Amino acid sequence: MANQLYDFGMVGLGVMGSNFLLNMADHGFPVIGYDKNPDKTKLFEASAAEGNVVKGVNTVEQFISQMKRPRKVMMLVPAGAVVDSVIADLTPFLEPGDILIDGGNSHYTDTLKRIVSLREKDILFMGIGVSGGEEGARKGPSIMPGGDEVAYKEVAPMLEAVAAKVNGDPCVAYLGKDAAGHYVKMVHNGIEYAIMQLISECYDMLNHGLQYDNAAISRVFSDWNKGELQSYLLEISSEIFKMTDDKVKGKYLVDMILDKAGAKGTGKWTSQEGLDLPVPVPTIDGAVMMRNLSSLTGERQKASSIYGSEFKKLEISPADFEKQLQDAFYFGTLCSYAQGLALLSVASRELKMDIDMPAVVRIWRGGCIIRSELLNNFMEAYKDKDLKNLLLDTDVADLVTQKLDGIRHTVSIAALNNFPSVSLMASLNYFNAYRREFLPTNLIQAQRDFFGAHTYQRVDEEGIFHTEWNTSSDTVSTKPIDTN
Ligand code: 6PG
Repeated sequence: MANQLYDFGMVGLGVMGSNFLLNMADHGFPVIGYDKNPDKTKLFEASAAEGNVVKGVNTVEQFISQMKRPRKVMMLVPAGAVVDSVIADLTPFLEPGDILIDGGNSHYTDTLKRIVSLREKDILFMGIGVSGGEEGARKGPSIMPGGDEVAYKEVAPMLEAVAAKVNGDPCVAYLGKDAAGHYVKMVHNGIEYAIMQLISECYDMLNHGLQYDNAAISRVFSDWNKGELQSYLLEISSEIFKMTDDKVKGKYLVDMILDKAGAKGTGKWTSQEGLDLPVPVPTIDGAVMMRNLSSLTGERQKASSIYGSEFKKLEISPADFEKQLQDAFYFGTLCSYAQGLALLSVASRELKMDIDMPAVVRIWRGGCIIRSELLNNFMEAYKDKDLKNLLLDTDVADLVTQKLDGIRHTVSIAALNNFPSVSLMASLNYFNAYRREFLPTNLIQAQRDFFGAHTYQRVDEEGIFHTEWNTSSDTVSTKPIDTN
């Protein structure tokens, strides 16, 4: 039909939705956006480059009727109830074979439910993670699609066009079944929380330990960003320390920002998944915990008045400590990726998502918030699709070993000088536990069996055992448990 002009439609013309569509229009696709707010649709149309085919509409009818079939509709709206309400508004107008995409940070279990309920109407629902913030959406995000593979093939040319490119390679790929896209995005965000936390711990020690001013801190992050640690989060951190406040003269903006970190939940979900599966992700857990603790402003003030929180200048060569801290940050960052990716590979198996692990590492190299030079090393490691943990790759092991002195010194200095370096410490503890052939957890098994007859396994014999622990003498009576 003559009026069915548009290749792709977007629900929600907030900055993300509008930028994503404008990006698609720049690549030659005619696009249509729907938002109830006429100011947003007007602004969207006015922002389009000359010659691009874009349209903004304020009713679902106008929106759906002008799209080519099968319709390809993406929602970029806040996660939760809003997604369900948009689905309810759209579905009466959609037809079998149409593709509906949720590009927000939805919880993967919500995505699974939506896939099932829309399948009844033959509507192909996909959960797609989009990372890169407002600028990424406009210039090239990293896109993490999961769900119906046939539906993916329909939208792949458009997603490949708008995605960030690394050496010409688009940062988008089909990642796996069902809610794989949203699961991968959740883990991406967990890693994002961890790296942000690690940077803030380094900032604390540079600021209060070496007593560097903001210009010096900016210089350190900028130096780190030049080499093997090059990353988006270091780049923006360096920029942040240059920014002066526009309200109070002579102040830096970062110093005027309250130390109360917000969170929308994706980091917490990653930790919850880590506990549920279970896969240890302590560097991420530390980051989630620190955001929570940062909100206890009143309690922290009271505790500070009881225990004090003065910092003494570190008696250490600044150049030496900068290097140790850099290595510690490298180590912590590597552990963050290792934990997140380990979680992802177990989840892929347990939730039957068949996640393409090499593709995940590949598409995280550009466009997204956790993009970094380090990921290039991991591409090699994930040529082994069954790799359980990055730390088990021998090339990665060489990198890790080089940074061990740095993390040990940094964590010791932090402990001796009262710096709460939760995620740095968690990374070293994770590593030290993971590399131990024997852990002291035999004692935990003995204790469990002692007080609760919870049974244990032996090092010398197959089977499950229980002991009648005789507390009045050191003789015991051990019996195998019949598990049949
Ligand atoms: C991204 C970001 C994006 C969002 C975070 C913020 O990849 O572009 O992760 O999705 O900025 O979800 O999360 P918090 O508000 O929880 O820090």
